[in-house]
Amino acid sequence: MAPSLFFMFCTWIVLLVMIHTPLAKPLCHPDESSALMEFKRSFKINITTLLCVYPKFESWTLDEHGDCCSWDGVECDEATSHVTGLDLSHGCLFGTLSSNTSLFRLLHLESLNLAWNDFHSSSIPYGFGNLSRLHYLNLSSSHLSGKVPSDISWLSRLVSLDLNLGWDLEDSLGLYWQNILKMPNIDNFIQNLTMLQELDLSSINMSSPFPHVLANFSSLKSLKLGYCELHGEFPVSNFQLPNLKALDISQNYNLSGFIPDLHWGNPLKSLSLFETNFSGQVPISIGNLVFLNELSIDDCNFSGLLPTSMGNLSQLARLGLSSNNFHGQIHAFFANLTHLSYLDLGYNNFSGGIGHWFVNLVKLTYLNLAGNSSSNCNPNSSSLYFLHLADCQLSGPITYSFENLTRLVSLQLYYNNLQGKIPSSIWELKDLEWLDLYGNNLTGTVDLHKLKKLRMPRSMPLFQNFPI
Ligand SMILES: *[C@@H]1O[C@H](CO)[C@@H](O)[C@H](O)[C@H]1NC(C)=O
Ligand SMILES: *[C@@H]1O[C@H](CO)[C@@H](O)[C@H](O)[C@H]1NC(C)=O
Ligand SMILES: *[C@@H]1O[C@H](CO)[C@@H](O)[C@H](O)[C@H]1NC(C)=O
Ligand SMILES: *[C@@H]1O[C@H](CO)[C@@H](O)[C@H](O)[C@H]1NC(C)=O
Ligand SMILES: *[C@@H]1O[C@H](CO)[C@@H](O)[C@H](O)[C@H]1NC(C)=O
Ligand SMILES: *[C@@H]1O[C@H](CO)[C@@H](O)[C@H](O)[C@H]1NC(C)=O
Ligand SMILES: *[C@@H]1O[C@H](CO)[C@@H](O)[C@H](O)[C@H]1NC(C)=O
Ligand SMILES: *[C@@H]1O[C@H](CO)[C@@H](O)[C@H](O)[C@H]1NC(C)=O
Ligand SMILES: *[C@@H]1O[C@H](CO)[C@@H](O)[C@H](O)[C@H]1NC(C)=O
Ligand SMILES: *[C@@H]1O[C@H](CO)[C@@H](O)[C@H](O)[C@H]1NC(C)=O
Ligand SMILES: *[C@@H]1O[C@H](CO)[C@@H](O)[C@H](O)[C@H]1NC(C)=O
Ligand SMILES: *[C@@H]1O[C@H](CO)[C@@H](O)[C@H](O)[C@H]1NC(C)=O
Repeated sequence: MAPSLFFMFCTWIVLLVMIHTPLAKPLCHPDESSALMEFKRSFKINITTLLCVYPKFESWTLDEHGDCCSWDGVECDEATSHVTGLDLSHGCLFGTLSSNTSLFRLLHLESLNLAWNDFHSSSIPYGFGNLSRLHYLNLSSSHLSGKVPSDISWLSRLVSLDLNLGWDLEDSLGLYWQNILKMPNIDNFIQNLTMLQELDLSSINMSSPFPHVLANFSSLKSLKLGYCELHGEFPVSNFQLPNLKALDISQNYNLSGFIPDLHWGNPLKSLSLFETNFSGQVPISIGNLVFLNELSIDDCNFSGLLPTSMGNLSQLARLGLSSNNFHGQIHAFFANLTHLSYLDLGYNNFSGGIGHWFVNLVKLTYLNLAGNSSSNCNPNSSSLYFLHLADCQLSGPITYSFENLTRLVSLQLYYNNLQGKIPSSIWELKDLEWLDLYGNNLTGTVDLHKLKKLRMPRSMPLFQNFPI
């Protein structure tokens, strides 16, 4: 959250600078400036909503000839002066979008972004179909509900469509909006949107099989249909979309499929299949996806050994394989994955624990080996924030020191057979917030005063063996 807030802040500064930079723009058409003013008046600005960053249209005014082309968030065509772009994302708009909204009079709009506003769970009005020149439409994370109106599917020039409800966002902000957008017939809806390069309909309830027609959308670069209640079989041909860089079909719990053993000609960078019913093995050819930056296949039914060809995936930063049925030694190829910052192998049947491969992963911040069998454990790494080795069959005394895990925020060692004295170096971990040693046979003295940030979900059991 912190980096994105910082980014938004920077954007705000840049926008402020832009306002003070005189640009020679044409005067806008009066009917368009009045439509924009009417749009403004139909909303409140609410700077207390969590989505609000900066109320862009607060400065709009009809004074000084009311040249709407110079208004913040408005873009005009240089030659015709028609309003072609409107970007009020993060704009602190608070109110409902109604079907008589003056927005639908801006018939020259090519790009419209109303993402991250609070439309009060109103439904998406019928009328976007009138904006036939739109090639970019973004209504993501804007607290909309109801059925997605079919006239959006007339917008055959669309190159980018984002109606993502923002489930992740709500989670991270602690908001739980109940309303779910629905799209009863996804096949019909997208049928004519063949120019799409980006499609994000995540969190829209489709209750349908995966739309077969998408396999023919050869321009697609980014396809995100996570948490859409898609079921049935995922058509393998979608993996062969020639320009695909990002595919996210996660959290479609009843969507089955497998990762095919293909030539993989596309520049895939991100593949998210977690919490689906995908199964089978990870094929050797996965090693051809040399641009892969994220592979998230947690909570599926994958099994078998990991192919050593994964050692070619040197760009991987995020690898999530948890809660599957993989087995085998944690292989030396991990030593090649030097860009990894997140590695979750938890709850499989891997063996070996932290091996020699670990020393190469100097960017690793998250390591989860819980629920595997770990004979080795010497987590000597100054980059780690999260170290989860719970339920790992670790036994005997802790022979290593925690002195170099200076950034550790979470240490989970519960349900092992650790015995003996707890190393005093644990109490030197100044940033530790979560510590769970439950279900071991450790003794020692706890120095609570040193762990100032500690939160204790299982506080008492943690200390049951310790004189405090
Ligand atoms: C602003 O938004 C907050 C949070 O959504 C809401 O509780 C509050 O009532 C809104 N304020 C106004 C003036 O509408
Ligand atoms: C638009 O419709 C709403 C109700 O849906 C109504 O309150 C409002 O007055 C209408 N605005 C115009 C300009 O017709
Ligand atoms: C939609 O807008 C939001 C907020 O500006 C942005 O984060 C998101 O990437 C946009 N989606 C697309 C497909 O451009
Ligand atoms: C769409 O355009 C038609 C004709 O241009 C107009 O009659 C109609 O009112 C418009 N619909 C909306 C919702 O603005
Ligand atoms: C798609 O385009 C065809 C031809 O223009 C048209 O007949 C059909 O109704 C359109 N389908 C949808 C769902 O808009
Ligand atoms: C999704 O839609 C289906 C069919 O309309 C419905 O049975 C199901 O409960 C909906 N899911 C959610 C989470 O609302
Ligand atoms: C994809 O396009 C081909 C050739 O135009 C067509 O024969 C096929 O039916 C299309 N597939 C789908 C699922 O629409
Ligand atoms: C998934 O399938 C199971 C059994 O087939 C069914 O009970 C469940 O409701 C389905 N869940 C969803 C989200 O479709
Ligand atoms: C999940 O996948 C397995 C194996 O392919 C299949 O037998 C099962 O029916 C699938 N379950 C659902 C709910 O689709
Ligand atoms: C590590 O990567 C290099 C090239 O980047 C490759 O030649 C080597 O086979 C890889 N090693 C493993 C164990 O995959
Ligand atoms: C901690 O790091 C220092 C410097 O890299 C090294 O000399 C020392 O052996 C490390 N301590 C442990 C317990 O690994
Ligand atoms: C716990 O450790 C102590 C020695 O530190 C030992 O005497 C005792 O038997 C151990 N208890 C269990 C249940 O292993």
